[in-house]
Amino acid sequence: MCGIVGYIGQRRVVPILLEGLKRLEYRGYDSAGLVYLQDGRLHKYRCEGKLANLEAVMDKVLTDSTIGLGHTRWATHGPPSEANAHPHCDCSGELVVVHNGIIENFQTLREKLMAQGHVFTSQTDTEVLAHLIEEHLRGDLVKAVREALKEVEGSFALGVMWLKQPELLVAARYQSPLVLGVHEGGSFMASDIPALLPFTRDVIFLDDGEMAVLQGHSLQISRLDDGTPVEKVMQHIDWNAGMAEKSGYRHFMLKEIFEQPQSILNTFRGRIDPETGEVKLPEIALSSEELCAIRRISLVACGTSWHAALVAKYWLEKRVGLPVEVDIASEFRYRRLLLGPDVMVIPISQSGETADTLAGLRLAKKLGAKVIAICNVVGSTITRESDGTIYTHAGPEIGVASTKAFTSQLTALFLLTLFLGQVRGTILPEKARELGKQLIELPGIIENELPRLQEQLNVIAEEFSRSRDFLYLGRGANFPIALEGALKLKEISYIHAEGYAAGELKHGPIALIDRDMPVLALAPKDSVYGKLISNVEEVKARHGRMILVGSASDDHLARLSDYVIGLPDVHEDLTPLLYVIPLQLLSYQIAVLRGCDVDQPRNLAKSVTVE
Ligand code: AGP
Repeated sequence: MCGIVGYIGQRRVVPILLEGLKRLEYRGYDSAGLVYLQDGRLHKYRCEGKLANLEAVMDKVLTDSTIGLGHTRWATHGPPSEANAHPHCDCSGELVVVHNGIIENFQTLREKLMAQGHVFTSQTDTEVLAHLIEEHLRGDLVKAVREALKEVEGSFALGVMWLKQPELLVAARYQSPLVLGVHEGGSFMASDIPALLPFTRDVIFLDDGEMAVLQGHSLQISRLDDGTPVEKVMQHIDWNAGMAEKSGYRHFMLKEIFEQPQSILNTFRGRIDPETGEVKLPEIALSSEELCAIRRISLVACGTSWHAALVAKYWLEKRVGLPVEVDIASEFRYRRLLLGPDVMVIPISQSGETADTLAGLRLAKKLGAKVIAICNVVGSTITRESDGTIYTHAGPEIGVASTKAFTSQLTALFLLTLFLGQVRGTILPEKARELGKQLIELPGIIENELPRLQEQLNVIAEEFSRSRDFLYLGRGANFPIALEGALKLKEISYIHAEGYAAGELKHGPIALIDRDMPVLALAPKDSVYGKLISNVEEVKARHGRMILVGSASDDHLARLSDYVIGLPDVHEDLTPLLYVIPLQLLSYQIAVLRGCDVDQPRNLAKSVTVE
């Protein structure tokens, strides 16, 4: 997720771009850049690191230019660096683009353009767009952009400027947000509302497959494919800047819970064939022979990422037939490790900087294991020291409590399961097609359920927000989801909560059950459903207060609990991605009711870079 901003009009553009980028930094902050047109030349400035580095450079630049583009980056392809920072140019240096999104077929386009003589200067997918537009340029920028984007697969919110048509900017979007504004003889484009609020509250939202030509005070909006003009309605925004950064949500955590359909989609986008379910993970950079020589998998992580690892153990052992060990990183690094070249070690980390996970990675490397990371931050330490990284394209996760990064980790691990199963021949083509189809349908299912679930969980949260303790139960791949639900609750509401394998109830925890003990059980109709229901009966017999999360088609649950959260039926393997959602919403709402600092809970940090 990145932030783009553009302006053309009568005001000095650089302060507008910098102010806009500052308000978009929550969308990405590993590098930034801008370009403006002055005296018949394009002037481009790009810096690695925070926006403040670019501001420091621009402080020394005097210009009264009134047209330009800016970008703040969250790397998806190519580590953070000046060379990979946007804007990106074509070969002539006279055409520049800024982009937010993922170009799925960028490798194919890059090879084609290089064969046509284009010279690339970055590792990004975005630079392909500049050269592709250049390839179609015949004196008309709007036409060239329209033609070029017909060859693009993936998502984009795009700003384009060309030296030879200094009177206009071009914007286009597909599955990445882009908002436009007009004010005092100028027109604006931006990835999100906050960048426009200092200048105008009247905005137009571009829709997928639309293009806009910005010329001073005028906006011409048309369909991207055939140029048909499109009438748009101006909307007035009354959010304050803080609300706008959260897209109107009260907290980043809630915004990120609702971003999960998009972050799951962005994680599997371009990696799975919708027809065959075939998964491609070129970033693993291991040959089929090397992958088939793997005899064991070792997952290592902390906190929520460790829960993702626990879920993956079920998937990998079931579908790939390899023994899988899962370690908490702070334990892994201090025990005697029996690792070697036939072991694939998978460190999982949202931040890519967790000290214990990094230490475990280094040990694994020293012992000769193949290390493939799952990570959300391109260019982070863990990714730089791994043999390969499968990135979770969740975008920046601002809330300390991990939500969208977690479901993106699960998505990446599910893709890895399908990939290894296909390479090692343990998943048959028709099974791959079935599982792939189920994964591809999941974002839409979650999208449809979120508003109803939020409403239902808000009511349940009222009932339980004063509880002192909570027990979460799950079986199979949903046992780690019980652990995750408990962690979410305790880390943001400060209520003591424990996750347990439901079958463990009789081995101690059942002593805790009484009328004051809320017990939440995950009861999907899976292979251990009957066993789970027996555990629920045990709790009921001791007057525990049950909350059940299960299939909406399972009317047996209503006889067992006054609080039933019904979910759509999905493939058993994928229930962890769906069943964690109500637990996130429950913990969020209880924390809000308890007046806790949801986004920055006491004693916690987003990335634990110390032991
Ligand atoms: C999860 O909500 C917590 N923020 C924490 O447990 C986190 O998952 C853990 O610190 C690991 O962080 P990482 O994924 O960045 O390595």
